[in-house]
Amino acid sequence: MIWKNISKFFSFVNPEIAHTFAIFFLKLRFYSKIKNENLPVKIKKLLFKNPIGLAAGFDKNAQVIKEISDLGFGFSEIGTVTPRAQYGNRKPRIFRLKEDKGIINRNGFNNDGMKKIKERLQNYKSRIINDNSFLIGINIGPNKDSTDRIRDYKLLVQELGSYGDYITINVSSPNTDGLRKFQSVKHLERVINAVKEGLLKNNSNLKKKPVFIKISPDIEVSIIKDIIELCVNKNVLGLIISNTTVSREKILMSDKKKEVGGLSGLPLFRKSTEILIEANKVKKKLKANIFFIATGGVQDGFSAYVKILSGAHLIQLYTSLTYEGPLISKRILSELKTYMIRDRIKNFDKVRGMASSFEEALTLAKKGFD
Ligand SMILES: Cc1cc2nc3c(=O)[nH]c(=O)nc-3n(C[C@H](O)[C@H](O)[C@H](O)COP(=O)(O)O)c2cc1C
Repeated sequence: MIWKNISKFFSFVNPEIAHTFAIFFLKLRFYSKIKNENLPVKIKKLLFKNPIGLAAGFDKNAQVIKEISDLGFGFSEIGTVTPRAQYGNRKPRIFRLKEDKGIINRNGFNNDGMKKIKERLQNYKSRIINDNSFLIGINIGPNKDSTDRIRDYKLLVQELGSYGDYITINVSSPNTDGLRKFQSVKHLERVINAVKEGLLKNNSNLKKKPVFIKISPDIEVSIIKDIIELCVNKNVLGLIISNTTVSREKILMSDKKKEVGGLSGLPLFRKSTEILIEANKVKKKLKANIFFIATGGVQDGFSAYVKILSGAHLIQLYTSLTYEGPLISKRILSELKTYMIRDRIKNFDKVRGMASSFEEALTLAKKGFD
């Protein structure tokens, strides 16, 4: 009840102010730890206690890591962090599309910069000594006015590499001009090389630090194969599919639909899932050892199951947290358990990636396998 009222209150406040309040309330810690279903997922050496993570952009500055863990998420992605602190674009820059259950944001990597964020990560790690059950990803990107964006990626892992269980290379935000050109194989190879060099420079033990690449849902389907081949060659563990979209293909009802920026939430669900399915087809064809984290429009157990049937090992969300409130991970996990019972599976390995189209994923999630 208390959560419902808080969520209701937030829905009337300007979204950026609501976000500041949310961080403030979480820091107050007036709630007790939420105990969620245990649904472990292992990806190589990374063991996630459950597959539901908080996507990048909510805890940009590593202010509420423990609090997010206590809300029952399995992992959280800090950032996007840039080398120097950055104000981002002019406000207002976040818009709620209530009728569509979506958000448009054009934040532009507003964050406290890697030094300050490193201090917070150090502080968190010193408090959480014997608990490795909640994993942290560190999402990195260049400063807007950087003269050498490739060098920025290297600097960031040199500084922060040892604090994340994995690193996410963000080359897909639509709000930093020219960033998405790094998704072309030629540029992406240089970024990956810089990240690997930076990790080695930080500490030779970080040579095998898991790295993910977060891609845009607006990419040409034809380059997915090249990206996956590159990832396999460069030992990149996986792809996060996807960031927000600049497309407005879907019919939107909200009067905020014309705002410039990246669209997330329900209107992104289909588009991001279709890219995931394409990536999964390539993975199967190449027998590639690569893993997918699905992001985009997950809001309940059904949408999470659709992502798993489309090839996801893990799931991240942001927008639905703002609409559904902080019990969202609990609800998704218990609904996923119900699907497991219905489909008589002990884990998702048997069904992961079975769908070869979005429609098939919807049908399988709806009707099961009988
Ligand atoms: C307000 C807002 C800020 C975001 N900031 C970032 C960011 O800094 N870096 C990033 O990689 N993604 C960022 N994202 C994208 C999310 O991480 C996620 O990929 C996207 O919103 C799709 O998931 P969703 O539909 O569950 O929100 C942001 C999203 C929102 C709504």
